[in-house]
Amino acid sequence: MRIHGKPAWTIWLATETPGVVRILDQRRLPHEVVVLELRTAEDAAAAIRDMAVRGAPLIGVTAAYGLYLAALAAPAAGMTAFLEKKRAMLAATRPTAVNLFWALERMMQTVCAAASPAAAADTARREAEAIRAEDMELCRRIGEHGLALIRAIAARKNGGTVNILTHCNAGWLACCDLGTATAPIYQAHRAGIPVHVWVDETRPRNQGASLTAFELGQEGVPHTLVADNAGGHLMQHGRVDLAITGADRVTARGDAANKIGTYLKALAARDNHVPFYVALPSSTIDWTLDDGVAEIPIEERSADEILYMHGRLDGGGVGRVRIAPDGTPAANPGFDVTPARLITGLITERGVCPASRDGLRTLFPKRKNG
Ligand code: MRU
Repeated sequence: MRIHGKPAWTIWLATETPGVVRILDQRRLPHEVVVLELRTAEDAAAAIRDMAVRGAPLIGVTAAYGLYLAALAAPAAGMTAFLEKKRAMLAATRPTAVNLFWALERMMQTVCAAASPAAAADTARREAEAIRAEDMELCRRIGEHGLALIRAIAARKNGGTVNILTHCNAGWLACCDLGTATAPIYQAHRAGIPVHVWVDETRPRNQGASLTAFELGQEGVPHTLVADNAGGHLMQHGRVDLAITGADRVTARGDAANKIGTYLKALAARDNHVPFYVALPSSTIDWTLDDGVAEIPIEERSADEILYMHGRLDGGGVGRVRIAPDGTPAANPGFDVTPARLITGLITERGVCPASRDGLRTLFPKRKNG
């Protein structure tokens, strides 16, 4: 994908400097393009915790590189205990996106089998690179499967513009390339299908306004930013053909956690007969959970995210302004769960399936989901 016409990545190994991982600092977008260097597992944990990187797949990939950085610093005596400590530190950064735990588990399985810290570091680097490369490939395949849905709607509209609503940022900035919810959109745009995206601003951190609008704009995809509360109105007036969101954790029966406000969009979509799809790689499926509302841990974030807005000030600088009276109490649950019954289908790297235990089983027959 591109920023200002040049190829750009969310995370990559600095090939000329061993032991350095570079990330795009997403807290500075869209106003500034800033690259940060991660040199330790602590740096990687801070980047995830402070949301320099965010989005479920990218959180997982960053954690994987974090364990690579940990392996570089591991002592020969007590290597496994050292790596376990770093794993626990990385795992404690954010609770909802299961990709974090998935990536850490996969890394630990390979790295802890190594005979020495040097071998562990080498294995860890290769495994983290593989997870990053796989994420790109999974997003590409999600895009292909989602493209078929968009193509069918375009055909029904006799080539008229397909209006797609999305919430938060499940774009390439949340992954390593293409994104999940945006992959079908980018592929449709590249295939010459006219698409237009309604971008929810996504309060409180405004990932839609800051990140999704930014990346769609950089790729030349027509889009319009709307207030979070506008979706229902747009659907009532036939201005949304399809909703696609990403997910942070999908249970074995198809319930999907995503950025707070996704559930309300799914309710509005159901009331207005608008198809509502969730796009995800299989690393986002938590096969151990069933009832998403009861079981998925929901991150509680700082009240400051509600009390302040952050952005470019009229004077030109970037800063924050307080929007609530001093002393106002605020609560900030970061995610909500959309029950499977409100989801038209799950778009995965293996195809599109109903959001149900049986649906997931058709695509992933080897997984145990009850
Ligand atoms: O808090 P964030 O920005 O990490 O939340 C991100 C989302 O909710 C995304 O929609 C989700 O991770 C899917 S990313 C492909």
